[in-house]
Amino acid sequence: MAQRETWTSRAGFIFAAVGSAVGLGNIWSFPFQTASNGGAAFLVVYLLAVFLIGFPTMLIEFTIGRRSKQNAVSAFAELGYGDWTFAGAIGVFASFITLAFYSVVGGWVISYIVGSVTGAYLGDAGAYFGSVSSGLVAVGAHAVFIAVTIGIVAFGVADGIERATKFMIPAILVLLVGLAAWASTLPGAGAGYSYYLSPDFSVIASNFADIVPAAMGQAFFTLSLGFGVMIAYASYLGRDDSLPGDSAIIVVLNTIVALLAGFAVFPILAATSGVGDASGGAGTAFIALAGAFGQLPAGQIIGLVFFVVLLFAALSSSISLLEAPTSYVVDSQGMERRTVAIGIGAVAFVLGIAPAYGYVGLFNDLVFNVLLPVAVLFIALFVGWVANREAVDELGRGSSIGEGATTIWLWWVRIVVPIAVIVTLYLGVTSFYTGLTTGAYF
Ligand code: TRP
Repeated sequence: MAQRETWTSRAGFIFAAVGSAVGLGNIWSFPFQTASNGGAAFLVVYLLAVFLIGFPTMLIEFTIGRRSKQNAVSAFAELGYGDWTFAGAIGVFASFITLAFYSVVGGWVISYIVGSVTGAYLGDAGAYFGSVSSGLVAVGAHAVFIAVTIGIVAFGVADGIERATKFMIPAILVLLVGLAAWASTLPGAGAGYSYYLSPDFSVIASNFADIVPAAMGQAFFTLSLGFGVMIAYASYLGRDDSLPGDSAIIVVLNTIVALLAGFAVFPILAATSGVGDASGGAGTAFIALAGAFGQLPAGQIIGLVFFVVLLFAALSSSISLLEAPTSYVVDSQGMERRTVAIGIGAVAFVLGIAPAYGYVGLFNDLVFNVLLPVAVLFIALFVGWVANREAVDELGRGSSIGEGATTIWLWWVRIVVPIAVIVTLYLGVTSFYTGLTTGAYF
């Protein structure tokens, strides 16, 4: 029997996981959520969500994956708890729904690549966003983005893209550091920093019901948690890797990329259109960054490089979002891979027409407020209360953390994570439902 493949190096695994985590979530969604939810008040809750809930949740997925050596759907049965398969299936469903709107935002990135070449956004960055973010242009760009994603998954050339992402992450870091440094010199940058960094705790209290689900959803989304991908990635891990160590590196790197995006976006916003609770919206990052490229010397070229890099980061995510439902159907129905990838991609394309006509918020909140918390709640209950002996044993392997830390983690997963997620779900579902009935999404 051939041995199951494992990552050739620890760095290989970390790169793949960071590649999954870093994407539009960091550069588009994070500034968007922060700007829409009170700035620094959101940032505080978000950082708590990442480190107190996201980090232990990543360990939940890692223990399930490495223990079972299976993908998210087969993992539960492999461990002897087939009844829990639905928990993995929710993640696969979340991947599919996410793909539909992720591809629309990926389409925006394509439009900004075109805009960098033609110079179309240089004059009025806000107007350009308005013209490409919804309507036929958005549908067309979404079609191109998803077609490329389907092509890569159907023809199994994802390896090349994966390899490319190794260069993309350092490139994104360098570009963001450069942009943030330049942005710091702008007149009025100070107002941006204070909106981004000095929390007004009364805002947290008064907007608790909006901030908590947005921050928790963003934490899960950006760390790719609740989708089952981290289960699948960890299934290829060797037994002597330290799960807490790897997880800490992934969480910190991903957070650095998001924070840097904020350090670029907020001073630019402050210097151009102004920051404040009205400045939020799905266009936040695109308008701010394109506005900056409009003012920079050689801005068109820098913009082109930036959006091409962002496109690769987005593609590496969308491939994995399509891969999850595709391999599920291929494995369970025994259908041909190419047909399945094209079929699922086509359905995601049709579904994505809605966000391409302005319903990004609806899809975003369905995933952030409902699907991800539900998926995380079930895997936390599973690991905390059902497969806890296996999980604790797995967590201890290859790591130097002691029994004390493992026990704290277990109780954290049993009690704290479920309570936090249930509160999130209550608030998130309520606000989603209110949005549906009051027409806020429509
Ligand atoms: N974390 C990615 C981002 O921030 C998005 C994402 C969510 C993802 N789930 C995923 C990427 C699954 C790959 C696989 O953009």
